[in-house]
Amino acid sequence: MWAALLPVGRDAWTGGYHRFAWTPPELDCRAWFTDEARRRGLRIEHDPNGNLFAWWDAGSGPAVLTGSHLDSVPGGGAFDGPLGVVSALAAIDRLRAAGFTPRRPIGVAVFAEEEGARFGVACLGSRLLTGAIDPSRARGLRDGDGRTFGEVIAEHGLDPAAIGPDEGLLGRIGCFVELHVEQGRALREPVGVASAIIPHGRWRLDFTGEGNHAGTTLLADRRDPMLPFAHTVLAARRSAAGNDSVATVGKVTVVPGGVNAIPSSVTAWLDARGPTDDAVRRTVEEIAEAARRAAAEHGVTVDLAEESYTEIVGFDHALRDRLALVVGGQARSAEPAPVLPTGAGHDAGVLSARVPTAMLFVRNPTGVSHAPAEHAETGDCLAGVTALAAVLKDLTGG
Ligand code: GLV
Ligand code: MN
Ligand code: MN
Ligand code: MN
Repeated sequence: MWAALLPVGRDAWTGGYHRFAWTPPELDCRAWFTDEARRRGLRIEHDPNGNLFAWWDAGSGPAVLTGSHLDSVPGGGAFDGPLGVVSALAAIDRLRAAGFTPRRPIGVAVFAEEEGARFGVACLGSRLLTGAIDPSRARGLRDGDGRTFGEVIAEHGLDPAAIGPDEGLLGRIGCFVELHVEQGRALREPVGVASAIIPHGRWRLDFTGEGNHAGTTLLADRRDPMLPFAHTVLAARRSAAGNDSVATVGKVTVVPGGVNAIPSSVTAWLDARGPTDDAVRRTVEEIAEAARRAAAEHGVTVDLAEESYTEIVGFDHALRDRLALVVGGQARSAEPAPVLPTGAGHDAGVLSARVPTAMLFVRNPTGVSHAPAEHAETGDCLAGVTALAAVLKDLTGG
């Protein structure tokens, strides 16, 4: 099952995945999912926000939802997202092979645009579902070609006017458990349980100067936005270090982008995360101050806009502890599974505002993620399936 997904959207040269929401590779992944789900007799449901669900309609009462996402960052790894979806289907297979019948429905979710790689806001599908983003703002979000989210989803059969919170669907979900590859080097055991997601956000910086000739414009006459941009990147590193946080400038566009032209504008995106809201806010304020100072020094203007912000997420304590015991019971040690926080954002973080939510992590031996070297050993992935099957059984058996 996993093998069929591996070539989809993979760049043959770098080995990185490019599966942006509603582009052909991501649509192929969705078609693969629908096929696999139908083959298992699961019922497919499309919500108004582009999220996809496959239901094992057993028993009654609030459902246990699992799953993750199939979109990727630019040049992403194979596991971030798909591991949770494939493991969910594999866990259902395990339960069925063991003759288990759940007393409540089990659902597998594929959330849309989790990475925000196309429209800029991470977890867009789950934010819409839970009401964490205003639908009119979402409709107007633009991709790199200037096309709006509303236009794009309309082309794929969704009604842009209908996007937004889906209380009927939320009301049917008793809890959500997302399995995901761990994205740093924090997990030493094959499978762990998440405690929290640290505060994180995205900001856009627009530096506007004056385009001009690279050969004829004296240094003193220039208003080059590249210079304050460069100061800002260095300030990001410095401020993050001073606030026990992390800050990244991973995307930049330079207009017009000519070797022999001083740019007229530079747009950069800042990702900042830290242990507390205060630490992140301080980091961003210091970076903004450095950007304003450098811009003024070089005759350039700078605008800073917050694109998204997620406060600290603490997962449901009872569910977290229950999972740690169930998962630990599957391991050789029979100790509770390790419980750890993460610096990565997830749909589980968004869902947790509305339903009891927990996460399982599968060990990442390289500590690399959002890059082609992202990895999880097959044995650990199978341990993840065993853990998820045990959790689903525990949560739907009583
Ligand atoms: C999403 O994976 C994020 O943490 O940026
Ligand atoms: Mn990711
Ligand atoms: Mn992910
Ligand atoms: Mn994520």
